[in-house]
Parts: sequence; structure tokens; C-alpha cells
Amino acid sequence: MKPIRIGFIGAGSLANAMHYPSLAEFEDAQIVAICDLNEQHLNATADKYQVDRRYTNYRQMLEQVDLDAVYVIMPPHHLFDIVIHCLQAKKHVFIEKPPGLTTYQTASFAELAAKNGCLTMCGFNRRFIPLLAQSKSLVEEQGPIIQCTATFLKYHTGGRYYNGAIDILTCDAIHAVDTLRWMGGEVRALASTIHAYESTFENSFNALIEFENGATGFLVTNWMVGRRVHTFEMHAKGISAFVDGDDCAHVYHGNQEAGRTITAQEAAGSDLRHKSYGFYFENRHFIDCIGQGCEPNTCFADAVKTMELVDRIYASRIC
Ligand SMILES: NC(=O)c1ccc[n+]([C@@H]2O[C@H](COP(=O)([O-])OP(=O)(O)OC[C@H]3O[C@@H](n4cnc5c(N)ncnc54)[C@H](O)[C@@H]3O)[C@@H](O)[C@H]2O)c1
Repeated sequence: MKPIRIGFIGAGSLANAMHYPSLAEFEDAQIVAICDLNEQHLNATADKYQVDRRYTNYRQMLEQVDLDAVYVIMPPHHLFDIVIHCLQAKKHVFIEKPPGLTTYQTASFAELAAKNGCLTMCGFNRRFIPLLAQSKSLVEEQGPIIQCTATFLKYHTGGRYYNGAIDILTCDAIHAVDTLRWMGGEVRALASTIHAYESTFENSFNALIEFENGATGFLVTNWMVGRRVHTFEMHAKGISAFVDGDDCAHVYHGNQEAGRTITAQEAAGSDLRHKSYGFYFENRHFIDCIGQGCEPNTCFADAVKTMELVDRIYASRIC
């Protein structure tokens, strides 16, 4: 079978740390062209992955190179025109989170993708962290999840994201929001608190969630506390999993004192960050879906639902 031909728009830090090394390992995908406005980034990445077709203008790349799919990996306020152009050219498209600046933008992407038969994916990589996926399976073997928590903490002193182009919840804490949807399903009702602690802009977003199936969820995020902590809890009848995707999971079952501990590396079968933190597996999913002609789990239409939940968190403040 012919490898899937990939073009990259963006050769920045996240793409280089996670997406290029993942795709370079796949025999059924080939990076055939790269575009970046920054020629240093462009050439360093293209040299590393031995890619000859190099562009600083993405329109030229799309005109001149025969591509099946395009990765658009750049800051969220630069995405819109480029993603629309790729979808108009009927390319399959992968983007990072957030999937645009607003739900309206994400919905526009999803609508055009559906119209043009493009397969799409937003990189909500937490769903693909092997440790998290394995923990979820262990819990769900005992029954449906009845309670879950997504915690995301940071000590952020860097000011507004991208000089104020986008808020923290939509840009970054959205990882925790999306993972709650993945653990608990769609949301029936919620109440939130949002604060600007020691800051001129909002940096803590918390919610109590009632899922449609009756399960309860908790969103706990704060960008003004001790350090980066990103953990998850999932509970079903007689089983509880406490998961830190950067470290390990503790799973307790049926009142047994000693739980089972699984490390992130054990679950991923690798010490490499792009594997243990889910990026390799989300890329594998995207390429597999293109090969099979089916929509990825985190397609743009699904990303609209996560963006809508972000909007509901803003709209449901109790204070
Ligand atoms: N999933 C995660 O955990 C995670 C972590 C970090 C960042 N991200 C996301 O990854 C995305 C990229 O972040 P980053 O920190 O790697 O960005 P970056 O600034 O390091 O890289 C962006 C690159 O895009 C290039 N670029 C910008 N506009 C362009 C254009 N019009 N044409 C061609 N090239 C252009 C820039 O020159 C730069 O090289 C963001 O959406 C961010 O939210 C996700």
C-alpha cells in the first residue's frame, strides 16, 4: 500500500517534540513537505527528517505537492485561514488543541470538513495516554464510571496567553475539560466557579458536573498554585483509579489494602515522552483512520462538543 502523504505547516517546538518523531516511525505515512515562516525552524526540521520540499508559503505547498493530509501546528490565533484553506483543498487535517479560538470557528471547520469529505483530528492527546486509557479500561471492566475528576494545576507567571489572543480555559485547561467528557460522557448540568487569583485575568476554572448518565464529574484547575500537576480520578462500583499521566496510576479494587501500581512507561512500553504522553498513539489513530476511511475519535465535530462545554463552564458561574 502507498504511504499516506503528509504535509506539515509549522515546525515549532511541540510539533518537533511530539508529532514529527511519531510520524517518522510509521511505515505507512511519509512526511513529504514542510512549511514554516521561520526558515531556521523550517530547515532544521526538514534536515532532521530529510524532507526536500520546503516552503514558507502554505498555499504554494498545497498547490505544488500532492498531499493526502496536512498537519497545521501553530498558535491558535493563526489557525483559522490555514485550516479553512486546507479543507477547501479537500485535505485531511490534524490540528493541536485548542481547535480554534471560538466554538464558532471550530463549528466552521467541522461543517466544511463534512461537506468536503475530509477526515479531521484535534490533538486531545490525554485520551491517548496509554496509562490513562488502561486505567479507564480497568475501571470500566467493573462497571460504568460513576464519578471522575480532572485536575490541572500550574504556577503560571507568564501573563496572558499569546499576549491575550486567547484565554487559559479555552487554550490549555481545555485538556481537562475534554478528558472529563471522555471519562463521563455528555453533560446534563453544571455549576462553575471562575476566579482571577493574584492576577488581572482569570486563571482558575472549577466545575461540578452532572453527566447525562447520572455520573458526577469535577473540574479542578488553577494556574496560580504550586507547580504543574495534571491528574485524573475514575471511580466505578468497587474500584478507584488515581492517575498521573506523568508518573503512575494507583488502582484500588474491592477494599484490598494494597492497590495495583502501573507506571506510565510500563503502560506505554516506552520511556519516550512522545509515547508515554499519548502523542505517538494519537498520530497512529489519525493515520489508521485515514487508511480505513473512518472519522477519528477527536474529529472536529467532536471538538465542537468540548468547545461547547467550555462555553457552558463560562455561562454557569455560581459567582
Ligand atoms: N497537546 C499539548 O499538550 C500541547 C502542548 C504544547 C502546545 N500545544 C499546542 O501546539 C500548538 C503549537 O504550539 P508551539 O508551542 O509548538 O508553537 P511554536 O510557536 O513553537 O511553533 C509554531 C510554528 O508555526 C510557525 N508559523 C506560524 N504561523 C505560520 C504560518 N502562517 N505559516 C507557516 N508557519 C507558521 C512558526 O514560525 C513556528 O515555527 C499550539 O496550538 C499549542 O496550543 C499542545
